[in-house]
Amino acid sequence: MCGIIGAIRSDGGVLNALIEGLRVVEYRGYDSAGVAVIDGGQILVRKKQGRLENLEKVLEDGALEQAPVGIGHTRWATHGEPSDRNSHPHQGAAGRVAIVHNGIFENYLELREQLTAQGITFVSETDSEVMAQLIDLELQEGISLENAVRRSLRRVEGYYALGAIAEGPDGAELVCARKGPPLLVASTPDAAYLASDVLGVIPHTDRVVYLEDGDVAILKPGSIQVTDFEGHPVQREVAKVDWTPGDTGLGGWPHYMLKEIHEQPDVLARTALDRIDLERGDVNIEGGQFSDEFLQGVSRVQVLACGTALHAGMIAKYLIEGLAKVPVDVDYASEFRYRGPILVPGTMALAISQSGETADTLGAARLAKELGASVAAICNVTGSTQMREADQVLLTHAGPEIGVASTKAFTAQVAAAVLLAVRMGRANGNLSVQEAKELLAGLRDLRTKMEHLLSEPVREHIRALAKVHARAKGFFFLGRGVNFPVALEGALKLKEISYMHAEGYAAGEMKHGPIALIDPGMTIVSINAPGHVADKVRSNIEQVKSRGGVALSVGSHEGSHKIAGQCIEVPETIEWLSPILNTIPLQLFSYYIADLRGCDIDKPRNLAKSVTVE
Ligand code: M6R
Repeated sequence: MCGIIGAIRSDGGVLNALIEGLRVVEYRGYDSAGVAVIDGGQILVRKKQGRLENLEKVLEDGALEQAPVGIGHTRWATHGEPSDRNSHPHQGAAGRVAIVHNGIFENYLELREQLTAQGITFVSETDSEVMAQLIDLELQEGISLENAVRRSLRRVEGYYALGAIAEGPDGAELVCARKGPPLLVASTPDAAYLASDVLGVIPHTDRVVYLEDGDVAILKPGSIQVTDFEGHPVQREVAKVDWTPGDTGLGGWPHYMLKEIHEQPDVLARTALDRIDLERGDVNIEGGQFSDEFLQGVSRVQVLACGTALHAGMIAKYLIEGLAKVPVDVDYASEFRYRGPILVPGTMALAISQSGETADTLGAARLAKELGASVAAICNVTGSTQMREADQVLLTHAGPEIGVASTKAFTAQVAAAVLLAVRMGRANGNLSVQEAKELLAGLRDLRTKMEHLLSEPVREHIRALAKVHARAKGFFFLGRGVNFPVALEGALKLKEISYMHAEGYAAGEMKHGPIALIDPGMTIVSINAPGHVADKVRSNIEQVKSRGGVALSVGSHEGSHKIAGQCIEVPETIEWLSPILNTIPLQLFSYYIADLRGCDIDKPRNLAKSVTVE
């Protein structure tokens, strides 16, 4: 979704930092890009529809290169089609200000009418332009940019991460404000930066300040002043960022997705190993979070998440109910918010999110809190809104995930769910020390099994199968029990990056309707592991095969492999842990199919990495 970057430097030359910053946040998904700088008292704007390269072409004249202050934006269209005109930055009619905005001004139509009646001509169809026009009018009064921003924000309803530049009496000014979408600021001795994503500033510093809702920050070279909406200074903690610029490179891989798939054994180790206490048969979670005392009071869990994170949440339901014997409900975060949910006392809402900035998940977790639940989060980004708003957090240590299709974050979320389920079961006494020890040893041993799945012979086998199936008419991914959500995830991955039609189904549900679609053009991918539903999945495969479907069996269940004919063998593990292994071949299968079809794997059409609007 939209990315924001801003910089002010005492020695000038912010353009490079802006472009570098925009390139780093490119992965979030966008359809146009733009920058505005102030040089010699003049605001200069360049913006182009399409990829960053289009913008870079129009910057080749070098006119913006020496500017000491500027803002940049990658836009993911919401109000108004993707076009040069609708791209950010936007300016006011008198050209006194340029702004970049993420979020939505909900009353923009009303404001637009009022401003049009005052004789203002709008050049774009966006909601954001109203803010540029409002600030522009305020600046006419000769007030500072920060006050013009505050006064203008009083007139809007909605959500924003906003960056603005204007020429003030003492030179160029850079101000930003936040309500809703993420925004952070950072300073170095001779510069200051703002960004919607921590990756945008890590080339300059590893110390950042995450702005809170209602904050307005004034950036000068070497200093940042954070104030509240009334202009009173507020103190915000300086956070250290663990990620380094090196974490965001391709490192020789053709795509981030493939790189991230291969990082999974290390991610599992970082997320799980230090927390596993094999001697006690328990899990240690930092800072005494998820304590016995707290978990003994949890009578129900409400999972809230979207997309891939929701699939991890569905696996968490099987794990928590199966191991800790605590009932779990799972909702799409976007549905939970508007269905009038009823939460019983003792509910722990469990928000699962890679980015920690997904608007639907944040909204659902806030509602759960209002309804009396405590909020726990499984989250990958330190300092993210979800992490800061949750009462307790279990961080996944997947590192920056740049590929839009989530891979390593998913297996890390499932590993975190195993840890949480064991911790809950140990805290409430429903899981014996022996069972916990076996599970935790199994989790520890997954690393080498994951490495095997990523070895060249296995990869080549999966690539060959991808070739066979790349022209299928459609796909069904089938699983049962703890591997049912894996089927959903396998189908989501394939459709996201290859644009092929794929559906994930509970294998036992096929006969109730979807089986009508089976014919020799359809590929049926079944996911199975030895366990209490394994034979049932095998007979579900028989049912689709006997109707002419082409079956591909993934997992460690011999019987299913035999029936299917084609298979990807996965090393055996405890059934509860099998989703972590079974997911990896499905990720590779999707990757190779998308590659064979020539798709833009890391930036699939229409998708944004972090969906910060409803
Ligand atoms: O950052 P989050 O985990 O909250 O994101 C949730 C979904 O938007 C995300 O998982 C999405 O489904 C991915 N594109 C899946 O690959």
